[in-house]
Amino acid sequence: MIKKCLFPAAGYGTRFLPATKAMPKEMLPILTKPIIQYGVEEAKEAGCEVMGFVTGRGKRALEDHFDISYELEHQIKGTSKEHYLTEIRELINSCIFTYTRQNEMRGLGDAIYKGKSLVGESDAFAVILADDLCVNENGEGVLSQMVKLYNKYRCSVVAIMEVEKKDVDKYGIISGKKIDEDIYMVEKMIEKPGPDEAPTNLAIIGRYILTPDIFELIKDTKPGKNGEIQITDALNEQAKKGMVIAYKFKGKRFDCGSVEGFVEATNYMYEMSK
Ligand code: UTP
Repeated sequence: MIKKCLFPAAGYGTRFLPATKAMPKEMLPILTKPIIQYGVEEAKEAGCEVMGFVTGRGKRALEDHFDISYELEHQIKGTSKEHYLTEIRELINSCIFTYTRQNEMRGLGDAIYKGKSLVGESDAFAVILADDLCVNENGEGVLSQMVKLYNKYRCSVVAIMEVEKKDVDKYGIISGKKIDEDIYMVEKMIEKPGPDEAPTNLAIIGRYILTPDIFELIKDTKPGKNGEIQITDALNEQAKKGMVIAYKFKGKRFDCGSVEGFVEATNYMYEMSK
């Protein structure tokens, strides 16, 4: 079972400035819930109990969100508004929340490495990039679908989706052998390739299950594209040993790190809530 989930959340969210000047982008709401809460709910549904956040300066609001606000509780206790807090209260009571900081933005690989103290080195763990908001249409979250694959293949699992050729340079792109419906044994990954370099249009999105040997591999990874330590470089080492599965997940994904994706997600959720 996968019991721990890491949430790298140290990014500045520059695409949402000035909104993210004093507020973490993970706290931007889709309807009434901050983006990060959707991610935590998905992890909980997949069976995770420990939620580990890799944050940075200016991200205190994340810790406050997953904690009790006594003043507020006291204020609305017994009123018609009390039910607004029921969902988050249940979430807080059913999970353990832990935090560490990435002092410098040195890439996703580095952020995950910083999370080692939160998830430990003995078991596989999940990673959710909360700004990739995933919704499922068949009642099973994306991470939950991936956990099933991990239980079968016992190796790292990345979620993928087909993107347009012109957009491949925004993603890590995989190539590999199709071994089952929607499942690939990854042979290679390239971080943000140009349309001519990309071997496929199968793009990695912000959901991973990683086996703990990834930490040693990240340690040996040199800064790559944009001077950042890329998780795809470490995953490539696992892929060489046939230890990475890519899974074309069932459901929808919104890139809430971009204004366009954020608005799309908001509209979609609003329609669903009616
Ligand atoms: P993004 O590429 O979306 O970067 O990171 P960002 O800084 O959050 O947003 P923009 O581009 O400035 O608008 C993808 C995810 O990886 C995390 C981010 O927090 C986000 O969830 N990340 C990235 C880190 O935690 N640390 C890093 O060094 C890099």
